[in-house]
Amino acid sequence: MRERQKKKIFPLDFQWGVATSAFQLEGSPHADWTSWDPVLTRKPNITDHYRLFREDLKILKELGVNAYRFSLEWSRIQPRVDTWDEEAIAHYQEVIDILRSYRIEPMVTLHHFTHPRWFMERSPWHRTASIEKFLRFTEMMVSTLTGVRYWITFNEPYVILLGGYLEGCTPPGLRDVPRSLAALKNIFICHGKAYDIIHRYVPHAQVSVAHNMSVFAPWKRWNPLDRLLKKSANFFYNHSIINAFQTGIFIIKFPFSREVEIEVPIKDRLDFFGINYYTRIHLRFNPLKKMGVELRHLDIDGNGLTNLGWEIHPRGLEKVLRYASRLDLPLFITENGIASHDTEEKVKYMKKHVDVIEKCLRDGLDVRGYFYWTLIDNYEWLQGLDVRFGLYRVDFETLKRTPTYAATYYAYLIQSRSNM
Ligand code: GAL
Repeated sequence: MRERQKKKIFPLDFQWGVATSAFQLEGSPHADWTSWDPVLTRKPNITDHYRLFREDLKILKELGVNAYRFSLEWSRIQPRVDTWDEEAIAHYQEVIDILRSYRIEPMVTLHHFTHPRWFMERSPWHRTASIEKFLRFTEMMVSTLTGVRYWITFNEPYVILLGGYLEGCTPPGLRDVPRSLAALKNIFICHGKAYDIIHRYVPHAQVSVAHNMSVFAPWKRWNPLDRLLKKSANFFYNHSIINAFQTGIFIIKFPFSREVEIEVPIKDRLDFFGINYYTRIHLRFNPLKKMGVELRHLDIDGNGLTNLGWEIHPRGLEKVLRYASRLDLPLFITENGIASHDTEEKVKYMKKHVDVIEKCLRDGLDVRGYFYWTLIDNYEWLQGLDVRFGLYRVDFETLKRTPTYAATYYAYLIQSRSNM
């Protein structure tokens, strides 16, 4: 695919990156998720990145990225409530040092879905004890690790709640509205307090969450109930968190149910806003489904569906960036990518989304970074090992990594669009 010669729109210090999470690459013998998914009994180390990380980090250099988002596997670092594993801490410090030596800016996620087993057994998020546990981990990390300015406290806090407390498809596997609200409160108390802790230890720290944003549409435009659902989902999923960062109050309101207000200490505790954007979702009112909602992906614009069945909808990225611009903070796309075996599809997906960012920059939106999800094929939470989001293909039998054309293209895209 040829890139047109154009005036460079991306600012000099725009962060071109890729994003990963520790557990999805390296697994962990001490994580709650390890015993949750039987797939992992056959492949507990997944890509064996924990051992092969030096080779994998070299790929970043080949790609020419200047930023890398990755997470710390809490369960490796604190395998028991009273044990800190010095070797694991040194491991993640080495990752940071390698990145620095390559002049790649690290962006570190403290919590990306997994927990030490003891945490989930004794103090899951709906219990207040979770707060002290997470903050101890946070303080240990920010007081020990050096060379990190960009911190993400939680990856997709709403997804943690939807999967773990409403759908029950991820640990702790509950379907319990009151507990989900307690968990929401505790997670955001943690964010607020972690924000202060990070700033206490790290001068000029930049702290955010990585919030999953989606575009919603009514299944049938003519149906007022579908339209009402769309409005509620959009308010809840995209706007309630932005409001909460502005006011310190979460307002949760769904059709036909009582509005709930939850106060949390997060007002203005955000230095930038991390957005994970993948797709658009169509909604239909269906009394036979849980909470009366049925979700579907439709290929309305002919951009296609990914291997996970998600609609490819690049224009939606502009929408969510505009929603988030209300915060008046720098915006980072902390994840965006496609599950596909077809590398041409990956290239198209990436190009179309980067084109949208370019348009947004022209329009004056303050977008500061783009992190492609993801570096090499990995474990996908609900779908196992054959989903293939990677720029490099991994053979899970031999563990061999092979570049796909999408890797070559990303390197080219960075070169041609940036002023680096
Ligand atoms: C995100 C999540 C990632 C990855 C990605 C692709 O929601 O943060 O860990 O799994 O989706 O499904």
